[in-house]
Amino acid sequence: MKFTIRLVSAIWLSVMLVIGAFAYMQIREERERLFGDLQRRAVLVAGALSEALEPAGKQSPAAVERIVKKFGQTQRGIAVYDRFANLRSATPDIAPILPPSLPEVTEAIARNVATQAIRVVGDRNRYIYAVALVSDDQPVGAVAVLLDASHLQQAEWDRWSSNAVRFLVLALVISVIAALAVKISITRPMEEISQWTRALRSGRPVPPPRNLADANLFGPLAHEVSRLARSMQRAQVAAEQEAALRLAGESVWTEERLKQFVHLQLNGRLLVVVSNREPVSHVWRGGQIHAQAPASGLVTAMDPVMRACGGVWVAHGSGDADRETADTRGRLGVPLDEPRYTLRRVWLSKEEEQGYYAGFANEGLWPLCHIVHTRPIFRPDDWAYYLEVNQKFADVVLDQIKDADSPLVLIQDYHFAPLSALIKAERPDARVAIFWHIPWPNFEAFGICPWQRELLLGMLGADLIGFHTQYYCNNFLETVDRALEARIDWERFAVSRGDHTTSVKPFPISVAPEFVDDPPRESRAELLRRLGISAEFIGVGVERIDYTKGLPERLAALQFFFETYPQYRERLVFVQLAAPSRSTINRYQEIQREVEESVREINQMFQTKTWRPVLYLKAHHEHREIWSYYRHADFCMVTSLHDGMNLVAKEFVSVRDDEDGALILSRFAGASHELRDALIVNPYDLTGMAEAVRTALEMSPEERRVRMVRMRHSVTDHNIYRWAGMLLSELARIPVRAAGVRAS
Ligand code: G6P
Repeated sequence: MKFTIRLVSAIWLSVMLVIGAFAYMQIREERERLFGDLQRRAVLVAGALSEALEPAGKQSPAAVERIVKKFGQTQRGIAVYDRFANLRSATPDIAPILPPSLPEVTEAIARNVATQAIRVVGDRNRYIYAVALVSDDQPVGAVAVLLDASHLQQAEWDRWSSNAVRFLVLALVISVIAALAVKISITRPMEEISQWTRALRSGRPVPPPRNLADANLFGPLAHEVSRLARSMQRAQVAAEQEAALRLAGESVWTEERLKQFVHLQLNGRLLVVVSNREPVSHVWRGGQIHAQAPASGLVTAMDPVMRACGGVWVAHGSGDADRETADTRGRLGVPLDEPRYTLRRVWLSKEEEQGYYAGFANEGLWPLCHIVHTRPIFRPDDWAYYLEVNQKFADVVLDQIKDADSPLVLIQDYHFAPLSALIKAERPDARVAIFWHIPWPNFEAFGICPWQRELLLGMLGADLIGFHTQYYCNNFLETVDRALEARIDWERFAVSRGDHTTSVKPFPISVAPEFVDDPPRESRAELLRRLGISAEFIGVGVERIDYTKGLPERLAALQFFFETYPQYRERLVFVQLAAPSRSTINRYQEIQREVEESVREINQMFQTKTWRPVLYLKAHHEHREIWSYYRHADFCMVTSLHDGMNLVAKEFVSVRDDEDGALILSRFAGASHELRDALIVNPYDLTGMAEAVRTALEMSPEERRVRMVRMRHSVTDHNIYRWAGMLLSELARIPVRAAGVRAS
């Protein structure tokens, strides 16, 4: 209220000042104009009168009387004076009211000049113009012209009053508008915000008021409060979880527990994670910079860990607006709205990216390790770039840890086989682990790589090597056994070369037990409406378009399903979210075309006017956008031909807090060893997969629930925080050489 009064008073004062100043200037101009008008008329009359009275002062009183009468008019008085300023004659209307002497007349005679003034004569203001009558250069009298000037005052008054009305109306209108604006834009949103913060305080997860009248004004405030509330809520949920788990005597890993664990284990030591893919990239779109989280299982897994542990994540800055959004050393805080760790971007040239990433890593090592009948390509140039980029990353990591005591470095994936050795050579006191996110094939398959020795030696620079499964660990140890001179300890699963030992252990990776991004929780009906479909059943697939994911096989199985079970036509829609990936590589362009062709074929075969069997959404989907698809699908299909783990399967399970939904899972995905309640399929077997789809749709709700509950237990127990905890504690336990002692 006080604010409104202050605002309205300020408005009144400013309107008054502005209108007053303008009115004053207008009145001054008007007065000058009217005065000039009077003056012009009086000068003309006085001139003519002076001429008529020539020779001045010589006419008889009767003659003067006549002349005066002739020039006199209503509203125009004429007076003639002798040289002593005594009145000789005047027009009858003013004669009785003229004062005995007029200062203007006296002055005109005394100084022989024309004088003028406005003064009250009789009952009104009059303009007086006096001029001397001259004979032989001597004043012999004077004539005075008196014009009615009462309209000057009237005009002035009229101006003031019309401006006063204008002021009142304007000030009132502006005040009403301002008061309304204050109510709509400030008072009401403030009330909504305070109601909202009250609700937040009660611990309920309430979204901010939707239509804040002034998003520019209150948007940042609402944003800040949301962040604060989210942090409070997270802390509250974590505390409640911890308390519940303590009561139940369970030891499930949570974000909070990992934080505490890291705090104790690391004891203030720096944690550095290295991966090719960054957790967030910035891209130009429509003239604006957008942040996007890439479609990557590695990022899905590592981001919650980094949020819990803090530290530095070193990764390739691949977005075209990445430089604009980082500092001069390529650093920025992540998550962007509430930084909990540092991302340090490494810049690569186009040639480096092509040779190291597209070439050696993805045309060479990726098919080599996956064995899905796509031939690996090994080019010497790509290998040279691979080594060069690994050295570049090593330099950045070394720079990042230069002041840190016994730091922990966690290297991710097949892009960085040589990196461990490069870091350890300079910093033997650093504990270095590499986690291989993709399968490790048997020694014969791996042996076709011309640089297998160099890759193995690079990896063995690490203190710890992690794979998803024991089977991959065994394959790796056997490959080392065949390719290098090294001691393999099959009991402790370790490799020794010289005085350095590397442990090789399985750490099945997973996801956070809860979705980390706050998703828009739309309903099933809203999702269907948004997609413009109507369906009794929804199936979903979420993939990068990659030849290892078994997309053509899945589509062929769906085709077979609709042929075999026509009763499901027009009832089931399969939604495939497909993120284009590694598109500069020929094989990936081919698989994109192949998948699109299969979608077209199956749709053409079965579609009706109102229904299509497959909805193919080829686009990058933000992590939080995927929630609705997982949550409302009747089944999710993961049909990888070969996959280290596959986190889509685990993420689908983690989202299903309604304990519903069936998972169809390839037996060639690492996840199938843990999620045994999924419908396990061989993706090369069309009939088996079609049967699995039918089973998923016809399974009793109770069986679906029981299976989902068991899978959720597995994902909750073996979650990403546990994965990180196990890996870090194993690494922290390994004895390392003191700083300054170089490796041989
Ligand atoms: C797999 C790899 C990851 C990679 C991800 C996405 O999960 O193990 O290292 O980040 O695929 O592939 P991209 O090439 O787009 O990073």
